[in-house]
Amino acid sequence: MATFVVIGAQWGDEGKGKMTDYLAEDANVVVRFQGGNNAGHTVVVGDKEYKLHLIPSGILYEDKLNVLGNGVVIDPKDMLKEINYLKELGVKITAKTLLISDRAHVIMPYHKALDGAIESFRGKKSIGTTGKGIGPCYTDKAERTGIRICDLMNPEVFKEKLMINLEIKNALLTKVYNKEPFKFDEIYNEYLDYADKLREFVCDASVRVYDEIKNNKNILFEGAQGNLLDIDYGTYPYVTSSNTTATGVAAGVGIGPNMIESVVGIAKAYTTRVGEGPFPTELDNELGQYIREKGHEYGVTTGRSRRCGWLDAVILKQAVRVSGVTSFAVTKIDTLAGMESLKICVGYKIGDKIIDYIPASLEDLAKCEPIYEEFQGWDDSVSVARSFDELHPNAKIYLKRIEEITGAKISIVSVGPKRDQTMRVDTL
Ligand code: GDP
Ligand code: IMO
Ligand code: MG
Repeated sequence: MATFVVIGAQWGDEGKGKMTDYLAEDANVVVRFQGGNNAGHTVVVGDKEYKLHLIPSGILYEDKLNVLGNGVVIDPKDMLKEINYLKELGVKITAKTLLISDRAHVIMPYHKALDGAIESFRGKKSIGTTGKGIGPCYTDKAERTGIRICDLMNPEVFKEKLMINLEIKNALLTKVYNKEPFKFDEIYNEYLDYADKLREFVCDASVRVYDEIKNNKNILFEGAQGNLLDIDYGTYPYVTSSNTTATGVAAGVGIGPNMIESVVGIAKAYTTRVGEGPFPTELDNELGQYIREKGHEYGVTTGRSRRCGWLDAVILKQAVRVSGVTSFAVTKIDTLAGMESLKICVGYKIGDKIIDYIPASLEDLAKCEPIYEEFQGWDDSVSVARSFDELHPNAKIYLKRIEEITGAKISIVSVGPKRDQTMRVDTL
């Protein structure tokens, strides 16, 4: 058995899709354990580009089983759209290559409406969500009023749960948020149709994944978002509503934590974030704009421009601690090419104290001043390098320093969006 987790070590968009696709070559099963179609993963295979949101990146191989675990939230309408989009690009999707947990929660139209309404209500304090209904759907799960895939598959149960939910949600939407109510018949009939289209994929995913593990299959657990968007250890409240850390795997798939062997943290060579919230190493200047343009840092899901800044090793250290990162895959070192000098944040100064962890209080985090180490830059030659030895000497120094500061090995370096622009560096 080889089970490994791929997680984003920062605020998302680290290149998880590309790395999952690369690592999936050795996997038999690829499993998503949290989040929903708030994710946006771009994967380049040959000269084709695929934009995935909910479906695991292993779907681009014909022989892999892809599973959406119970911790995932599923928008059936958008999921069917994504299946059609992939089929049009020639990807084969059948019940042999895709399964959905019967315990996953369903994103309903009122979740999306509430996501938008709550964000407007927050005004200047809005989180900057993707508007996909993620927060309200997980709220219902925790509140125990959620509709699960198994409920959607049973017309009587679905009817009963939808009626109760609509009573509550319509009251909220009309009386609190001044929005239009939803009509039962329209949603009921539309969603029964989605249920029929998705039925073939539904299974008890915990039982299936456990069987695969017992049969010594290689399982890749594909994280969405990133460690700092974790509901417990992220920059709360500017986070998503699930456990994005590797700790989310056990609960989000239905397997024991002792079945996870290794954790690959995907770390971009610099830092980006979308949405609101403090960002100590942010470069809100020309340099940040240079990185944004060179790295095409625009969101796949919402098209928003990503805020860019220097690499923050404090964040990576948290990923090692909270997610148990066993090695890092560092992506996009080619984006930093052409800069004379670069910085890595190694700690924060807060008042007269120096810390190397992320404080819980966002007010404290906002006061943190990064302590930097400076490095010399490298040129575009890195994007054609295919081994660690071929990398520019300054890029090697930068990477080795990341290992020293975080205490975790770098196992992979990515120098471009394509599959072959990737190198294993286990011998660092
Ligand atoms: P994810 O959400 O973590 O899967 O990341 P995104 O797909 O949202 O954003 C990463 C972007 O960077 C995608 O467009 C990838 O194709 C691209 N990418 C991944 N690795 C590299 C790399 O090493 N170099 C460059 N230039 N682009 C990369
Ligand atoms: P991938 O998987 C970057 C951010 C949103 C917002 C916050 C909450 O592509 O890395 P939500 O809609 O989840 O309630 O929004 O989380 N966010 C992401 N940022 N990459 C993502 O996914 C994200 N998914 C959510 O911008 O700040
Ligand atoms: Mg993304």
